[in-house]
Amino acid sequence: MSKILVTGGAGFIGSNFVRMMLAETDHQIINLDLLTYAGNLENLSDVEGRANYAFVRGDIVDARVMSAVFAEHQPEVVVHFAAESHVDRSVLDATAFVQTNVVGTQVLLDQSRHHGVRRFVHVSTDEVYGSLGATGLFTEDTPLQPNSPYSSSKAGSDLLVRAAVHTHDMDCVITRCSNNYGPFQFPEKLIPLMIANAREDTPLPVYGDGKNVRDWIHVDDHCRGIRRAMEDGATGEVYNFGGDAERENLFVVHEILRLVGKGEDLIRFVTDRPGHDRRYAMDSSKAKSQLGWSPSFTFESGLAQTVEWYLANQQWWERVRSGAYQDYYSRQYGGR
Ligand code: NAD
Ligand code: TYD
Repeated sequence: MSKILVTGGAGFIGSNFVRMMLAETDHQIINLDLLTYAGNLENLSDVEGRANYAFVRGDIVDARVMSAVFAEHQPEVVVHFAAESHVDRSVLDATAFVQTNVVGTQVLLDQSRHHGVRRFVHVSTDEVYGSLGATGLFTEDTPLQPNSPYSSSKAGSDLLVRAAVHTHDMDCVITRCSNNYGPFQFPEKLIPLMIANAREDTPLPVYGDGKNVRDWIHVDDHCRGIRRAMEDGATGEVYNFGGDAERENLFVVHEILRLVGKGEDLIRFVTDRPGHDRRYAMDSSKAKSQLGWSPSFTFESGLAQTVEWYLANQQWWERVRSGAYQDYYSRQYGGR
């Protein structure tokens, strides 16, 4: 049994990871989260009150608060999800991305070192590699060429983790994953946004020509990968995780409309995202051969399950779509 500090555990992937770890292990989980617009304790209402689960509200950027959290809980392992995670928001204003993703990661590395954390798992993204042409895959050796403020801030955090390994002999592992989908994803990202809009007969905004490609992975497969990297990843190594499921955005949108039972007349082609990366695709062969990991969902089975979840949990996304989300939506999409 280990004490694991999970940062960002009230967000999409973090909450799925916390639930999986509580279901499958007897580890003590401390969920540290600031509860920004993207963090929601409702995502974990089913595990509240568990003896081996605790929630702490705090900002990873605040070194004083983090020092107190580490001193009180004495974690042996840190799994670091907390981040500003949405590209479009980083285009509107990158400030919080630099603060949380870059500064916050360094604060956590410092506290982990000072408080004797045994292993630090840094959850990162394929977007740090930049954009692919029509062919090829990202490997762990692909140069970092991030294009958005979001991906640049994540690349910055990856490099700080690398420096902690080389300079301070810290035991860190970096995971880089492709686009996740599944239950509890905030409905600003493509798949949940399109499901919610389709359900409400609101236009589905497709950027540019809709032919950008993402490699989709179910969040459960990602969480299993992070667990494998935490348990058996080698110090200082990077592990790519992808879903072996490259799809054009327009294909994804058509599938969602079919599964929700709505017509293609809801699709609206809107102005492209500035600097929009064309294609992401992952080579996960290192994780497959060295960690014995492979994705268990096909895109078709995962998407059907996800659409079913959103249709059955409309109250959840209606609540998170109220309030501050409305201001973001009108800034991002205006009258489109
Ligand atoms: P999310 O936006 O759903 O959740 C982020 C969580 O971090 C929220 O609970 C938020 O409250 C918390 N947080 C934000 N700023 C904080 C701060 N200063 N202090 C403490 N907590 C703070 O994000 P997600 O999609 O679950 O992504 C989690 C991680 O996985 C991120 O690091 C992201 O870069 C990475 N990732 C995401 C994807 C994806 O497709 N969503 C793919 C690869 C990697
Ligand atoms: P997103 O879910 O924001 O993930 P990321 O930008 O990190 O890959 O977007 C996935 C793809 O969907 C990306 O190519 C942008 C596109 N997209 C739209 O066409 N319309 C939208 O409203 C959104 C949010 C995304």
